[in-house]
Amino acid sequence: MVEKAVEYIKSKISGEYEIGIILGSGLGSLGDKIDNAEYVDYADIPGFPVSTAPGHVGRFVFGTLAGKRVMCMQGRIHLYEGYRPESIVMPIRVMRLMGVNNLIVTNAAGGINESFDVGDIMLITDHINFTGTNCLIGQNDDRFGVRFPDMSYAYSPELGSIAEKSAESLGIKLQKGVYVGCTGPSYETPAEIRAFRVLGADAVGMSTVQEVTAANHCGMKVLGFSLISNKAAGLSGERLTEEEVLLIGRQKSEEMQMLIMKITGEL
Ligand code: HPA
Repeated sequence: MVEKAVEYIKSKISGEYEIGIILGSGLGSLGDKIDNAEYVDYADIPGFPVSTAPGHVGRFVFGTLAGKRVMCMQGRIHLYEGYRPESIVMPIRVMRLMGVNNLIVTNAAGGINESFDVGDIMLITDHINFTGTNCLIGQNDDRFGVRFPDMSYAYSPELGSIAEKSAESLGIKLQKGVYVGCTGPSYETPAEIRAFRVLGADAVGMSTVQEVTAANHCGMKVLGFSLISNKAAGLSGERLTEEEVLLIGRQKSEEMQMLIMKITGEL
C-alpha cells in the first residue's frame, strides 16, 4: 500500500525530498509559505487515510522552504478518528520512500508543567506513549526497520540542539519537555493530568507518538515541537475547548513558522 501511494505521488511530483514536516492543529499555514508549491490531496492517494480533524486541510505540500526541498503534511491523521495505528503511520513510510531522513513534527498540546504559559513553544525531548497501542504491532516489515527498534534517542539530540540555537538567534523562548500522547478525543480529566505530572510529562496531546515511533523504526531523525495551546485540564479552572486550541495555533503560528524555516535552512 505504501508503494502504491508513493507510485501515485511520483506520477504527480518529481524528485526526492529529504525533509518532512507534519503540521498540527492550527499550524497548517506554514504549508502556504512553501515556494514552488505543488499539492497532492490525501483523498486522491490510493489507500491513504484522510484526516477529518478540525483545522487540518488534508494534503501534502511539496516544494522548497529556506532553500531546502521539503514535503509537508498539511493535516495529519489521529487515532481518535478511528484509524488503526498502522494507518496513522502510513504517511511516515510514504515520506521515507520519498527520501525523507529528517522529520519535523508539530502539534498543539495542553501544558502540564506549571511554568509553561499558553502560547509557549516546547521542544519535545522525549515522549510517553499513553495510547495503549503501538503502530508496529503485527508482522514486522524488515524493509523499513527491525522488530524491536531502539527509542533511546527518539527525538534527535543533534536536531534538538540545532533547534535551540535557531530559537536563540531568533529571540524565541523555547521550553523543553516530555510529551504524553493519549488517544482522545475527550480531553483528559484533572486526575489524569495530576497522574501524568507524576509520570514526568510536561505537555499532553492526541497525536505524534505513533508517527515518531514509525519514524524511528525506519531510521529517520526526529525533531518535535508542541505549541502549548491551553493549560491542561484542571490547571486553569476553565473548561477546555477546541476553539481555543485552534485560535492559539493561528496566533502563534508565525513564530513557529519562523523557527521551522530557520531550522530547515540549517539542516
Ligand atoms: N489535551 C489533549 N490534547 C490537546 C490539548 C489538551 O489539553 N490541547 C491541545 N491538544
